[in-house]
Amino acid sequence: MAAEPTFRVAVLASGGGTNLQALLDALPPGAPAQVVLVLSNNADAGALERARKAAIPARVIPHPRDAAELNRLLAGAHPDLVVLAGYLNLVPLETVAAYEGRMINIHPSLLPAFGGPGMYGHRVHQAVLASGARTSGASVHLVTPEYDRGPVIAQKTVPVEPGDTADTLAARILQVEHELLPAVVLAAARAGGVVRLG
Ligand code: GRF
Repeated sequence: MAAEPTFRVAVLASGGGTNLQALLDALPPGAPAQVVLVLSNNADAGALERARKAAIPARVIPHPRDAAELNRLLAGAHPDLVVLAGYLNLVPLETVAAYEGRMINIHPSLLPAFGGPGMYGHRVHQAVLASGARTSGASVHLVTPEYDRGPVIAQKTVPVEPGDTADTLAARILQVEHELLPAVVLAAARAGGVVRLG
């Protein structure tokens, strides 16, 4: 019986790439999904270094707002799924449209709370702490033209502990991100497309 075609995943990242690394660690050779391309708007992104170390094609996006260019870069890898993992640029509308229903983003809060334009990195955790919320967490959602507004696919909650700082909260959430994102990608690979978890 012919082997199931591997579910091809392209990852866009702007920073260190620990979520990418969690994916790479969860998708060894023979896994139902494979990361086949890593793109970044930032030539110094740690994510690109991680991809190169894993011998995965890694490219800098020369003009992140140029949809035709980005679509060309992505199409070359024939991805079944595009993952935004700490990608801080707004994805052009034409690219969102081209990958409708098969582009996901991970965000370090319990969306729809603490999401939207300007809500990234420590700003999210500072806002959570300032609000007095007793819980926070991570969310994976489908990407739509509006920042962080697409349907939520999966979430994981963590407590906000007394004395938490943006650093300690971010670290606790990053740990659950590293579980949540591979779980969503593996479920999508098994189902042949993005499915809601839990
Ligand atoms: C993560 O917290 C992610 O939720 C957010 O950006 C951060 C990226 O971290 N969108 P890394 O580059 O994957 O380490």
